Amino acid sequence: MPLVTLDGTEYAPRTHALLLHLRTAALDVKDPGARRLALITVLRVGQLCFDCRRVPPSPLVLSRMIRVVSQLVLDQMELYAAICRQYRWPGGLRRSLRVVQSDAEDLADRLVSARVDPVSLILTSPPYPGVHVLYHRWQVYGRKETALPYHLLQLNDGSFESHYTFGSRKKPDALYFDKLAAVFASLRRVTTRSTVVAQVVGFSDPESHLPRFRQAMQSAGFDEVMNPDSPDDVIARIVPHRRWYAELCAGQGGGHEFVLIHRPRRSGASGHGPGTDFGFCARGERGRRR
Ligand SMILES: C[S@@+](CC[C@H](N)C(=O)[O-])C[C@H]1O[C@@H](n2cnc3c(N)ncnc32)[C@H](O)[C@@H]1O
Repeated sequence: MPLVTLDGTEYAPRTHALLLHLRTAALDVKDPGARRLALITVLRVGQLCFDCRRVPPSPLVLSRMIRVVSQLVLDQMELYAAICRQYRWPGGLRRSLRVVQSDAEDLADRLVSARVDPVSLILTSPPYPGVHVLYHRWQVYGRKETALPYHLLQLNDGSFESHYTFGSRKKPDALYFDKLAAVFASLRRVTTRSTVVAQVVGFSDPESHLPRFRQAMQSAGFDEVMNPDSPDDVIARIVPHRRWYAELCAGQGGGHEFVLIHRPRRSGASGHGPGTDFGFCARGERGRRR
């Protein structure tokens, strides 16, 4: 089956067929963990071959890519395993790790129901307001979109772009900052005073969006922590590997990312401080109120 874009254009059918063949081989892997790794490898190879490419990828390019990516995945897995082995995991590594998948706004509820300890670190990169990045599509010639990543993973994708970006990028002011504040106001329930929130975020218009972002974090109950090593309030960098369509907007600020560090605001006279109002406990004291 040739790769078909949303407008019906077909191209690179042989490379696409090869990719589907690799996907089938990945699905045949018996061990579930190894199968997931194989699928992720195929997905990454597909992305490197198709997403934002101006030239149709040949089967030769794909076969080279699969060798490079597979080796990288294996090297990184070995590194990850070696790092994991450096620590002690009471009850074993698998029992110590839990993956909860949900809308960020529901995450605190899920953690509360699971009776997990309060969190010491929230490390995240939320969607970037106003910056055009498609998370659910790959883009090929002339910005044509394809749902191939979902097809490869045999998943249904029933959501629009705005579902993955905290609201429409065309109107970042309308929903984005309300959603951000709602997410963090809810996450505050699972924090303690010493919880650190570290975020990497980029803006299409940093001058107006950065203050709005900080305001939303403030209203959610978080204060910004200044970096003592930085002459500025924020750490900024030029974004590497930015997709070409975001590069076009780099002059408008889309090419910069910021690292923002926050902590839950200390409780005032009311006594409703972070981590106190939902019966959460200090790390390692599961089940007891502070
Ligand atoms: C800037 S990206 C960061 C991606 C990831 N941290 C990484 O480095 O690859 C923002 C991510 O937030 C996800 N996202 C958007 N809305 C979300 C929501 N309501 N809940 C959870 N994740 C969401 C998007 O799908 C996207 O993967």
